[in-house]
Amino acid sequence: MTTAAIPQTSPLASYEAQADEIGAAIGRVLRGGRYLLGPETEAFEREWAGYVGSEYAVTLASGTEALHLALRGCGVRPGDEVITVSHTAVATVSAIELSGATPVLVDIDPATYNLDPARLAAARTPKTRAVVLVHLYGRPGPVGRVLAFCREHGLKFIEDCAQSHGALCRGRRVGSYGDAAAFSFYPTKNLGAIGDGGAAVTNDPHVAETMRSLRQYGWRTERYVSAEAGWNGRMDEIQAAILRVKLRTLDADNDRRRALAARYDAALGGVHGLTLPLADDADRRSVFHQYVVRCARRDALAEHLQARRVGTLVHYPMPIHRQPAYAARGLARGPMDATEQAAKQVLSLPMFPQLPPEEADRAAAAVREFFGA
Ligand SMILES: Cc1ncc(COP(=O)(O)O)c(C=O)c1O
Repeated sequence: MTTAAIPQTSPLASYEAQADEIGAAIGRVLRGGRYLLGPETEAFEREWAGYVGSEYAVTLASGTEALHLALRGCGVRPGDEVITVSHTAVATVSAIELSGATPVLVDIDPATYNLDPARLAAARTPKTRAVVLVHLYGRPGPVGRVLAFCREHGLKFIEDCAQSHGALCRGRRVGSYGDAAAFSFYPTKNLGAIGDGGAAVTNDPHVAETMRSLRQYGWRTERYVSAEAGWNGRMDEIQAAILRVKLRTLDADNDRRRALAARYDAALGGVHGLTLPLADDADRRSVFHQYVVRCARRDALAEHLQARRVGTLVHYPMPIHRQPAYAARGLARGPMDATEQAAKQVLSLPMFPQLPPEEADRAAAAVREFFGA
């Protein structure tokens, strides 16, 4: 008998866990006859803002679009510079470029994989307009230090929360700290749609208004009259209805991710040559979008796990400043040692709320076997 493969992630399992409710929600939209910016979108925007702890949420076509509009809403323009990390999804950087600004990429803290705030001072120039803090893998980044830096220098503080729905920093949800924050509802995210989707949140009514206007052709007060040059950046009503269903179980799903992470921690603690994710501290509660281990022989470990039918992924194999589209542009500012090393060493183990604990145990046993532990 062959052992069943353990996927690294499973949006299908997430759908199957609520298939009936999702089916009913889709049916409600189909029969309601409003397919864009209707009652489901309105309700979800209210519910999502309430969940995050922000005044306003604006649904958008994707997480990329949410970050793009968060930047635009905060006044980022061509000619500006925006500081962020190179160890992130490329979407963080493409969203900055969509706003017309130049991304300035700095190194991460090798222990947390998040932006190293000590790098900010040397990266700042008179053109710097904003800092985008990515809460990577579900772990809240250094909000206090980045926020203080932004306030001191009159910069906008923008959070990329695409991997951190529900994560807590000093008891408040990430996304509620920034001048604006962006979430992705890509199907594998902690809150995932069945297709593309995203949302930007803010406490500033003017930022919210600008984002609402830009997502729909620049219409502000009058339909068919563009007050500014916009486009179509909307999320559709079916996704909003599905997200309302999934939002009800987000906290429970995050608890399951955390329980799986604790199980991995217990099984893999002390394995020589393997580094586990940093534990939460008094200020941070991670939601483990990914459970990322690191080791010098990462590729060999991934092959070993694949042979044992344990799925893994690498987030991310190539720093953005080294990727063909960006390499010639000199986007990196300062040393990138921690970023370069992470790209060679990180490996994401299976992690999704419906992953049976016994399968996490089997994945962990296969990791131990590789290290002869
Ligand atoms: C850190 C980060 N930022 C932005 C995005 C962009 O989200 P989307 O894929 O919904 O455009 C993603 C997800 O891919 C992400 O992981």
